[in-house]
Amino acid sequence: MSNQKTYIIGNWKMNHKLHELNEFFAEIDKADLPAGNFWIAPQIAHIHCALEKSNQNNIKIGAQNCSNEEAGAFTGETSPIALKDIGASFVILGHSERRAIFSESDELINAKVKLAMESGLIPVLCVGETLSEREAGKTLEVVLGQVKAGLNAVKIKDEDSIIIAYEPVWAIGTGKTATPEQAGSVHSEIRKCLVDLYPQVGEKLSILYGGSVKPSNIDDLLKQENINGGLVGGASLKASDYIALCKAAK
Ligand code: PGA
Repeated sequence: MSNQKTYIIGNWKMNHKLHELNEFFAEIDKADLPAGNFWIAPQIAHIHCALEKSNQNNIKIGAQNCSNEEAGAFTGETSPIALKDIGASFVILGHSERRAIFSESDELINAKVKLAMESGLIPVLCVGETLSEREAGKTLEVVLGQVKAGLNAVKIKDEDSIIIAYEPVWAIGTGKTATPEQAGSVHSEIRKCLVDLYPQVGEKLSILYGGSVKPSNIDDLLKQENINGGLVGGASLKASDYIALCKAAK
């Protein structure tokens, strides 16, 4: 029996129109989802609507990013305080698309993690190596470096305060999932690192895998000792796949 909670977190990225969101939740409501930690991060513009829909089920709603500033002249940014105000529960931070396309540094991500936690949101801190880094034998250096930098001076009260997501960049949106063994071995190293950093709580923190997770591979991934659920892009957009993933996590 594993020590950690299992999560299925849908990262919808910049997808779904409002009518698709409504259809998605209508299917979820019909599906009689089991109890569990099933979360969804729609686009910011849809968070409010998703929150209304989530009243009828136990899905928690969060954001895919937030600012490292509380308030002020930061046109186009979203404060974690505003997210908390409207009822969001969590925020995905340091996703590889934020790192690569929007040049987010470890320092910025670390500042966002701290402010998100202070604001009462649960950060889902994403880490992962590119294909060239993996081929150069630098996977652990990169991944553990991102874990340590993202958590620099971050105090973790309990296992519900933060979630880590390992997402090898070469597996995101490509259909190429890391094998359960490849993912499992990185997760074990992340676990050791978390236990080193947080002797009290490191063993209990959840570490999710992300990168082409789908109903056909979730079972094998979840069999790995330190894989405590999935951060799911493409497959979380389709209600039937999302429901299947939640049932597998149960
Ligand atoms: P994917 O995306 O499941 O479509 O590979 C995962 C992610 O980017 O979080």
